[in-house]
Amino acid sequence: MSAASIQHTTHQSTAITLDQVTLVRGSTVALRDVSLTLDTPRIGLIGDNGAGKSSLFRLISGLDQPQSGQVRIPSSEPGTTAPAIGMMFQNSDEQIIFPTVEEELALSLRHLCLSRAEAQNHVRNWLSARGLADWAPHAIGSLSQGQRQHVCWLALLIGSHRTLLLDEPFSSLDLPGQALLRKEIATAPQQIIVSTHVLEHVRHFERVIWLDHGCVRADGLGETVCAQYEADVASRLA
Ligand SMILES: Nc1ncnc2c1ncn2[C@@H]1O[C@H](COP(=O)(O)OP(=O)(O)OP(=O)(O)O)[C@@H](O)[C@H]1O
Ligand SMILES: [Mg+2]
Repeated sequence: MSAASIQHTTHQSTAITLDQVTLVRGSTVALRDVSLTLDTPRIGLIGDNGAGKSSLFRLISGLDQPQSGQVRIPSSEPGTTAPAIGMMFQNSDEQIIFPTVEEELALSLRHLCLSRAEAQNHVRNWLSARGLADWAPHAIGSLSQGQRQHVCWLALLIGSHRTLLLDEPFSSLDLPGQALLRKEIATAPQQIIVSTHVLEHVRHFERVIWLDHGCVRADGLGETVCAQYEADVASRLA
């Protein structure tokens, strides 16, 4: 594909699509000739360290542009100007910008063009409804890593994105936090794509994609793809 046809476009279809995408990061080909139509409500993303999971998320969220191929992103939900894609970073400190929880969550409401006071009021009410009223004034710097990861999830949930990309969202959460996040992922109205090394979090998904050295090694039913990956790991360790 010629450089002139590289695009990161929005379109009316509801599916994120990648067409023969190659992404180079530094001196590494992070994704190689990847074609995917991400049209299922829940998708797991698995694979070894360095396989390209975070790179795929960066590409979909527009943080990186491909060297070749096309990435097509659906337009925002009807009636909202919120960005179509929201991403939870693997490292929460890369995501969080503001010094307090309520300010960070208010950032997700910027498309509503509320005053600062209105946005923070909305956040406080929203947190109260979730039994988290006391979180609003917390200084981010005083939170543990797991608590920051929870804030990152809340910042996505309060927004109006069509699709949420969760990059290792369970990695710092305690067992109750993991159970809560699993439940909230199951019930959230948005399309959700989850990258994880803990296969139990995605094995039940209708679709899991296994990335291997920047290529799609398998793409199918969660149970099947997770078993294929586990068998491959076992054979490498044998
Ligand atoms: N900032 C960067 N600069 C240069 N190369 C990078 C950068 N980040 C990642 N890479 C390279 O891109 C490739 C894919 O990395 P990526 O972070 O997408 O992997 P991953 O599947 O998310 O791994 P992990 O499971 O460790 O999070 C790796 O080979 C890595 O070395
Ligand atoms: Mg990663």
